[in-house]
Amino acid sequence: MPVRILAIESSCDETAAAVCIDGCIISNIVAGQKVHEQYGGVVPELASRAHMQHIVPVVDTALKNAGICMAEINAVGYTQSPGLIGSLLVGGQFAKSLALSQNIPLIAVHHMQAHVLANLIDTPKPAFPFLCLTVSGGHTQIIQCNSPLSMKVIGETIDDAAGEAFDKSAKLLGLPYPGGPLIDQHAQNGNGKRFNFPKPHVEGLDFSFSGLKTSIVYFLQQAGKSVNYKQGQQVDKIEQENFISENLSDICASIQDRIISILLDKLEKAVSQTGIQSVCLAGGVSANSGLRKEFLTLAEQKGWNAHIPSFEYCTDNAGMIAITAYYKYVENQYSNYTTPSSARANW
Ligand code: KG4
Ligand code: ZN
Repeated sequence: MPVRILAIESSCDETAAAVCIDGCIISNIVAGQKVHEQYGGVVPELASRAHMQHIVPVVDTALKNAGICMAEINAVGYTQSPGLIGSLLVGGQFAKSLALSQNIPLIAVHHMQAHVLANLIDTPKPAFPFLCLTVSGGHTQIIQCNSPLSMKVIGETIDDAAGEAFDKSAKLLGLPYPGGPLIDQHAQNGNGKRFNFPKPHVEGLDFSFSGLKTSIVYFLQQAGKSVNYKQGQQVDKIEQENFISENLSDICASIQDRIISILLDKLEKAVSQTGIQSVCLAGGVSANSGLRKEFLTLAEQKGWNAHIPSFEYCTDNAGMIAITAYYKYVENQYSNYTTPSSARANW
């Protein structure tokens, strides 16, 4: 009997549903939420309301595209944590109701574990154990993955996440939210060596991105005139705006280059410390064209077996929740749907 799983993701501002049959993703639907653009970030209350509007059509389309009906589904997977509590509750309660109505298992999935396991969707799959640089809007981690359901964090950010560094830098440049993909676009026409942003010194395999944001603030206040990025005399607003618009591509490329070098230096260190040469990327920032390219170049130089999920499985999606739910289903790791609350903001 094939194992058919319906999965729902609603941790932040994407409402997503996917169907997976025997570990293959058959349909993967994502509805984004434009409403947040005007606020420069995700507004939790608006996100929950938009999930309420999108969830029925999104789940319906995922089932239709897979060519199956709810009665043929064997289990429902959903993102339990981490995320915005109101957003998680919409997807979680919807998943729980579907599972109860069909009398089938409910499977709770950790969003970050799912980002890592997105690497198991396409073939060829990475060999175990592998290291995964997981870079998203809320997390930056190096994970050692020994098997689908056994992984540990061996390095992580001590302040901002890499996606946050992209988004906050973009905001300082006057770009709308989410700024990561826009920095990526502008960087493609820019010189990443033009402006030299400082590199943080953090022990071990941990990361830090908050200093980068501060250095960008000083750099823009002085319209790139100071090499030391110290707080001092500031240029006026008009001069600052002109400086940004005349140099946008080079500024974006220089910020992106620094974020990439911070990430890949620690990944290189993790490989030499663990001796594990099977290496993956995951999370929304792994959609960044510069990071993908430099990761693959580094892997080739070092002889690593490199793997990156295809674009649709990098940013938030339910395909990654479905594949994780599939591995949990095979191991009978079901959730109890009588627990009062199935959503957790942190895990
Ligand atoms: O994994 P994700 O979709 O959601 C979270 O779990 O946080 O990651 C979202 C993050 C945002 O910060 C977004 O700006 C960033 O991924 N991102 C990118 C790119 N595409 C998405 N950052 C840089 N370049 C991109 N192309
Ligand atoms: Zn995510």
